[in-house]
Amino acid sequence: MSSAASVDRVHVRAPGKINVFLGVGGRHDDGYHALATVFQAVSLYEDVIARAAGDFSVTVRGADGIGGDADAVPLDDRNLAMRAAKLLAAAADYHGGVALEIRKSVPVAGGMGGGSADAAAALVACDALWGTGFSPARLHELAARLGADVPFALHGGTAVGTGRGDQLNPALARGRFDWVLVTSDEGLSTPVVYEQLDLLREEEGALADDPPLSLDVPIPVLQALRSGDAVQLAASLHNDLQAAAVHRRPDLEETIRRGIRAGALHGIVSGSGPTVALLCGDPESAQAVQTSLQQAGREALHVHGPVPGARILV
Ligand code: C5P
Repeated sequence: MSSAASVDRVHVRAPGKINVFLGVGGRHDDGYHALATVFQAVSLYEDVIARAAGDFSVTVRGADGIGGDADAVPLDDRNLAMRAAKLLAAAADYHGGVALEIRKSVPVAGGMGGGSADAAAALVACDALWGTGFSPARLHELAARLGADVPFALHGGTAVGTGRGDQLNPALARGRFDWVLVTSDEGLSTPVVYEQLDLLREEEGALADDPPLSLDVPIPVLQALRSGDAVQLAASLHNDLQAAAVHRRPDLEETIRRGIRAGALHGIVSGSGPTVALLCGDPESAQAVQTSLQQAGREALHVHGPVPGARILV
């Protein structure tokens, strides 16, 4: 970006995601599992503001009612946005720094890719702030080095993810899908949930002890997205990590049942959880489901998807 030299503040917004389908295969030697997933970016966003600075720093502020604990987000090199900024600086041979301000709305450790959204937003923000001018393909490649979900947060919309979840292909999705998200005060660790899945599979024995190292998304999922038919999509929602998340948090099943009783078409644990995503037929029924869950004392948000990936706000 040629005008970047005069920019001293860049504001980027990146979405959280739901995995409308998540198939988990075997574990590769690098510890990552083979995935076939369909991501949908939803209207719950992380805002990252990057300001010119001599060194690297990050601050985090959480919106109310997002579940998790924004204070628990690390502010050092474990912070994915900080790592993204440093990775971009190294790749661009840039010798300055950046002050990153993260305003979180996506639940912390909620299974909605909030940290990945921060990293994607930081890449886009620093690219603009420093005038790096990297191509989308180059940013995608850096994103994949930061985490399996980071490329999707750059991309947004609805997409099929294979490999570790980082090899993306856009999926056609017509119209809008209405979701109610039920958040939890305490997050779940993604690696712990994957480990739990491995343990459950081991316990199940011979039938499940050799999961495939490459998988596909079932055709009905893609057809439902293409037709924009929430009833069809509800019938094909699936998450292989759900049993592992429920093993650690048995209450999540009751949350799904409660959402369905309140009028949701179906519900699913989002990614590695513990956020529950309830698919609703239209905005009005989503409103009713949200109200019903809130009356039961739950933190519930009405969002829609798909929405675009990381974008600079002007
Ligand atoms: O890449 P990311 O940091 O999001 O992944 C967090 C953890 O989730 C990994 O360290 C790994 O334990 C688990 N994971 C996995 N297989 C994937 C993606 C994530 O086992 N495809």
